[in-house]
Amino acid sequence: MVTISKNRQTEPIKNLPDGPKTPRLIQTIRGVLQPLKYLEKSSKEYGDFYTVKFAGFPTQVVISNPQAIQEIFTADSKTFYAGKGNQFLHPLLGEHSLTLHDGNYHQQQRKLLLPSFHGERMKAYGNTICQITEQVINQWKLGEVFSARQAMQEISLKVILRTIFGLDEGERYDQLRQLMGELIDTIGSPLKSSFILLPILQKDLGNWSPWGKFLRQKQQINELLNAEIRERKAANDFSGEDILTLMMLAKDEAGQPMSEAELRDELMTLLFAGHETTATALAWALYWIHSLPEVKEKLLKELNSLGENPDLMAITKLPYFNAVCCETLRIYPVVLFTFTRIVQTPIRIMDYEFQPGTLLSPCIYLVHHREDLYPQSKQFKPERFLDRQFSPYEFFPFGGGNRRCIGMAFAMFEMKLVLATILQRTELKLAENRPVLPARRGITMAPVGGVKIVATK
Ligand code: HEM
Repeated sequence: MVTISKNRQTEPIKNLPDGPKTPRLIQTIRGVLQPLKYLEKSSKEYGDFYTVKFAGFPTQVVISNPQAIQEIFTADSKTFYAGKGNQFLHPLLGEHSLTLHDGNYHQQQRKLLLPSFHGERMKAYGNTICQITEQVINQWKLGEVFSARQAMQEISLKVILRTIFGLDEGERYDQLRQLMGELIDTIGSPLKSSFILLPILQKDLGNWSPWGKFLRQKQQINELLNAEIRERKAANDFSGEDILTLMMLAKDEAGQPMSEAELRDELMTLLFAGHETTATALAWALYWIHSLPEVKEKLLKELNSLGENPDLMAITKLPYFNAVCCETLRIYPVVLFTFTRIVQTPIRIMDYEFQPGTLLSPCIYLVHHREDLYPQSKQFKPERFLDRQFSPYEFFPFGGGNRRCIGMAFAMFEMKLVLATILQRTELKLAENRPVLPARRGITMAPVGGVKIVATK
């Protein structure tokens, strides 16, 4: 740690905060296997800023102070790189994915993708979401235990495939659905997902090795996506309302359309970012709603107040419904951290002046559990979101600033419509009467055991 000058309050400005002293390997094992416990312990010991060291990664600063988060999210976009910190996603998403880039290319790709997730477009996806949910509900057998996470994954994968390609049947669609499901399972468990995070484990030892299997699955998905793009181009039919059509029609400021490789990698980015995350959030929501009868009762009362066959947009505006979704995303945020921000030009944040190359990791989980913002933070209390409004630096399950999740509105919309359809059409109960805890699954924090549930009506 270097003390370089005096700040406004004549406190020394620090470059790096203190942090755990355990060897890198131990910090890595704890961070991968018991992420929440490790975060809570470290923040209790070191406060709102602390430094962690993971094997194979540069030292990074974990930040859980809302003022600091605000300064990061509102800083000039040239202050940080974020794409550079996401290179571990390269094998999964492909080199052209906007998540791996900064500067002009990132901004341009965001501009090309954003119209697909605009409010007006969203309405068109509403009926699709409800229809797919009904199809999946119809497969549930009374009295049979099933995994809520798997069922929600089936819904969210079908929704994203249908909205992206405008299709829900055919050989290519079935293959994509199966391969995406298998890929997510390959990177599913805490141990298996380590190879995504740790380059040292990325050894292709054939189809039976996790990395080898992953590479082959990814190659097959790429081939399917390339084939779809080529067929669309050859047919020269751009009348569809799906996201791929919009992406193929979009032109950058120089009038250039996206290349085939760009289209493929952005499709993969949306498929990946858009379904596992939403499925996890939905599984958690079902867990909380069915473990707390008073929450379910209030939700149903509010939903029923709209009468039979309510307008879809009216559902999305119900205040208690919204509060339940927000509380679900607060208590166990689907991802623990936003993308890492790598300092590009020196920046002063509160007592620190961070130098170029420093990695900053705004921690969604730790902010969402600050007792000064969320008293009794481990309890599920949707009323918090009715009693006060939280700033985008106090509640940010979708990150913020120039990297804020592109699919935020889509995910909230989907969560509400899927839950409303399930609550209106079925009666479910939890199959097990014990608390469900989160564990790492791919890049998300998912419920252990997937939330076992039974349909009773
Ligand atoms: C509950 C569901 C979801 C959660 C919790 C979530 C969360 C996040 C977070 C935390 C980030 C990083 C933001 C930052 O670093 O500031 C992100 C980025 C992103 N998300 Fe989501 N997401 C969800 C659903 C979706 C959906 C449905 C899509 C698209 C279909 C999507 C597409 C993306 C993309 C493309 C980025 C990268 C943005 C960029 O690099 O500029 N996400 N998401």
